[in-house]
Amino acid sequence: MKHSSFIVFSIAAILIGLAGQVAADLNSLRGAEAVPTTLAAPKLMKFINDKENVERTFEEQPPLTPHTNEKYTINLQTNKCLDCHMKQPGKDEAKSVEMSESHFIGRDGVKLDRLAGGRHFCTQCHVPQVDAKPLIGSNFQTVK
Ligand code: HEC
Ligand code: HEC
Repeated sequence: MKHSSFIVFSIAAILIGLAGQVAADLNSLRGAEAVPTTLAAPKLMKFINDKENVERTFEEQPPLTPHTNEKYTINLQTNKCLDCHMKQPGKDEAKSVEMSESHFIGRDGVKLDRLAGGRHFCTQCHVPQVDAKPLIGSNFQTVK
């Protein structure tokens, strides 16, 4: 065997070995079932509805929603979240929870007198909280 083809052969052998090792170490989160098998859906978890704000863990994190959101419809015509999340002088505090100014800046950076279109679908960024265990370990450290 020529010297160069021996090197190529050795590298290929190492890579195949490594790939096998990785495959052996990885466990799919859906378990060992074959892909075409339909698994039972995981149990729905209860939202924590305690009115306490969940602490943010990184800058620019959209705060989690500290209340359930299942009954608040958001579609082309209506956005129930806005019933309480628009500044409404005269309304009681629980129905006048302000959104940040960032929500009123259009995509070209200009301040608008209405909610920016890109913020209409609140649940794209704000999700309610559940007491779920992390799926995999992580050494992420919060900002504080
Ligand atoms: C019936 C009134 C009401 C409706 C409707 C409502 N909210 Fe709220 N929301 C509140 C109140 C009250 C708070 C608590 C305010 C606080 O903690 O300072 C709150 C808090 C929040 C917060 C946390 C803000 C923070 O500073 O941490 C988010 C995010 C939020 N709501 C998102 C939503 C979204 C998304 C919807 C629609 C799916 C929605 N809310 C609908 C009343 C409402
Ligand atoms: C594109 C993502 C995105 C969308 C869509 C969005 N938000 Fe936010 N929101 C954020 C982020 C990020 C923050 C935190 C940073 C900031 O204040 O700009 C935030 C902050 C907030 C806060 C906390 C304000 C404060 O002063 O602490 C409230 C309340 C809120 N959003 C409500 C809403 C509601 C209601 C909607 C829908 C009408 C909505 N957001 C849509 C990303 C989003």
